[in-house]
Amino acid sequence: MDLAGNGNADELLQAQAHIWNHVFNFINSMSLKCAIQLGIPDIIHKHGQPMTLAKLIDSLPINRVKAPFIYRLMRILIQSGFFIKANIRENHEEKGYILTPASKLLLSDNPLNVSPFLLAMLDPILTDPWHLLSQWFKNNDGNPFKTYNGDEFWELAGRDPRLNQFFNEGMASDARLIGSLVIKNCKDAFLGLNSLVDVGGGTGILAKAIADAFPHLNCAVLDLPHVVDGLEGQSKNLAFVGGDMFVAIPPTDAVLLKWILHDWSDEECVKILKNCKEAIPSKDKGGKVIIIDMVMKNQPEGDDSDDKAIETQLFFDMLMMVLTKGRERNEKEWAKLFFEAGFSGYKINPVFGLRSLIEVYYY
Ligand SMILES: C[S@@+](CC[C@H](N)C(=O)[O-])C[C@H]1O[C@@H](n2cnc3c(N)ncnc32)[C@H](O)[C@@H]1O
Repeated sequence: MDLAGNGNADELLQAQAHIWNHVFNFINSMSLKCAIQLGIPDIIHKHGQPMTLAKLIDSLPINRVKAPFIYRLMRILIQSGFFIKANIRENHEEKGYILTPASKLLLSDNPLNVSPFLLAMLDPILTDPWHLLSQWFKNNDGNPFKTYNGDEFWELAGRDPRLNQFFNEGMASDARLIGSLVIKNCKDAFLGLNSLVDVGGGTGILAKAIADAFPHLNCAVLDLPHVVDGLEGQSKNLAFVGGDMFVAIPPTDAVLLKWILHDWSDEECVKILKNCKEAIPSKDKGGKVIIIDMVMKNQPEGDDSDDKAIETQLFFDMLMMVLTKGRERNEKEWAKLFFEAGFSGYKINPVFGLRSLIEVYYY
């Protein structure tokens, strides 16, 4: 075989392996989705000790004919970091599956369970549009989701109760996790406030965590009517308002925007931020906008770093391109939006792993 122009045989084969790895990247996601749908983490957890393959198979809701395939599913999930094989007893050869920190976060009885987010993101309504990404580059549509479904995401969610429900549940599971950390890590951001509106706050999970932690704080969730209809009565100091953040935001000391601005173009973000500014007082009177979103790490040109954090932020950025009109932003891009909307300053607090809490204010 003529290797001219392709380097030596090792390089050629490495290049091929690299391509294969990327061609089949989706297999990690789909295998994990399958494990959640079969309840594998829950079953291993309930077993209470390392679980042999035979016992796992016995407990699974599968056709017996499929029993021999389970070890292959488990093998890839060990490789991807969701299970470990451990000795059943000390000095005993027999091994069984145990959970890792990642699969513990997918347990249905874990209050911080993020399986609903995983199942939402991997639903065909959200994954099918990826097949139209190159077509979208050639057409006039705002995003491939629209090319595929004929509607923007929020419009379709308003008409399709299944999409509305699983998406809201996915968001709620993330809000529960962030809610537990907000109170622990960023209490200061909420001290001294008398009122807060969680704009695009979904079903109110984060706002409820804040309302419960600060009983004197009057909290409200503003979201589209199909999201908040019928959600009243969860806490004395928590109200739900059906509305449109592009039209008006009720007056308040603070506006909370979690995972909102990354859904929108720069122009739309400036509109939302201007409406926030209208709703809040200046910094000396306690006014602020609290944003929970990613601040992209800057990736040096030509850097082929395999840093997982950067890759995950890039995944989110592409996800926004496919599903919405938005993007993930670095600090400079965030600052530009804030100043264009008339704010005077901001403070970034990188307290949520890949995401930060950003306080924005004006004098
Ligand atoms: C990515 S979700 C984030 C939900 C929630 N903040 C969270 O992080 O769990 C975006 C939210 O914005 C809401 N939304 C979209 N357009 C809106 C609008 N024009 N006015 C108010 N809310 C809107 C959606 O219904 C959805 O709940």
